[in-house]
Amino acid sequence: MKVSVIGAGNVGATLAQRIAEADIADVVLLDIAQGLAKGKGLDLSDARSIIGYDRDIMGTGDYNDIADSKIVVVTAGLARQPGMTREDLVNKNTATIKKIIACICEKAPQAIIIMVTNPLDILTNIALKISGFNPKKVIGMGGVLDSSRFANLIAERLNASPSEIEAMVIGAHGQSMLPLPRFTKVAGKKLTELLSDAECAELSKDTVNRGAQIVECLGNGSAYYAPSAAAFSMVQAILKDEKKLLSACVYLNGEYGIKDVCIGVPIILGAFGVEQIFELELTKQETENLVSSANAVKSAVAALS
Ligand code: NAI
Ligand code: 2OP
Repeated sequence: MKVSVIGAGNVGATLAQRIAEADIADVVLLDIAQGLAKGKGLDLSDARSIIGYDRDIMGTGDYNDIADSKIVVVTAGLARQPGMTREDLVNKNTATIKKIIACICEKAPQAIIIMVTNPLDILTNIALKISGFNPKKVIGMGGVLDSSRFANLIAERLNASPSEIEAMVIGAHGQSMLPLPRFTKVAGKKLTELLSDAECAELSKDTVNRGAQIVECLGNGSAYYAPSAAAFSMVQAILKDEKKLLSACVYLNGEYGIKDVCIGVPIILGAFGVEQIFELELTKQETENLVSSANAVKSAVAALS
């Protein structure tokens, strides 16, 4: 089993390290900066005898090396800087993604694509359109990260173990994301039974702003430890056919009353990609917010086309 990671920057290289250390697939790390990818590949493979993993790991600038990948994860492109929104990256990263998807289509046409590059939802839509792949095989990583941030903030507030928290965030990976306290549980109990509406609203706001908070602290670039962990959990769900429930950006064809756009919703992820899309019983307001989040993505994609 081979997983290719396009973009050997912070998210890509940390993801490659996580996959290698879990010993679940050979890893190809590809970057336009060929030396960067090669150097990181050599460095990661030198750790094999210390950490104890056997799989091959290599860095490259050559798309021939991604042939036969089961999964290709796209992390290539510009990251946010202080004061920027994810949407500010759209023009440059769209051009980058178009070229990369064309190469994936040529060299790894059977692969499942996991998109990471921002603006995530817009670029997942572009990747799906350009590739012409089965929509079950083009999936964006946003909801796992946002749900994990929500879970972490809840754990801190309640002094609970993060592993006891099942958090759910849907919608776009941006300011219109929708943390859902009613569908979030702490040790099996609904969050709404443990915290007031005001407290839930405050944690939801902090979740939405977490990425920007990290960008401000770093001063150069954006988060990558939790993002690479989130992408890793999706890679693992596919490789191990876990049929895992998680939130991801996928193509909707009428679910939630939304059609012909990729947006974040709960899915079951397994060996074939998206195996099921869950329709939560949202309130009228939650549905309106999700539809509005999806419409904003749709308009942005239409403007680019
Ligand atoms: P980074 O700047 O550390 O790495 C990006 C890498 O992409 C660089 O090594 C660069 O050389 C490479 N690259 C640029 N154009 C390329 C091309 N045409 N082909 C191959 N490689 C190319 O950035 P970082 O922190 O790794 O973030 C990468 C992307 O992921 C950004 O767009 C960022 O906003 C996004 N991101 C998305 C998250 C999500 O939840 N969906 C979370 C975190 C980051
Ligand atoms: C984040 O949420 C930049 O999308 C990235 O940290």
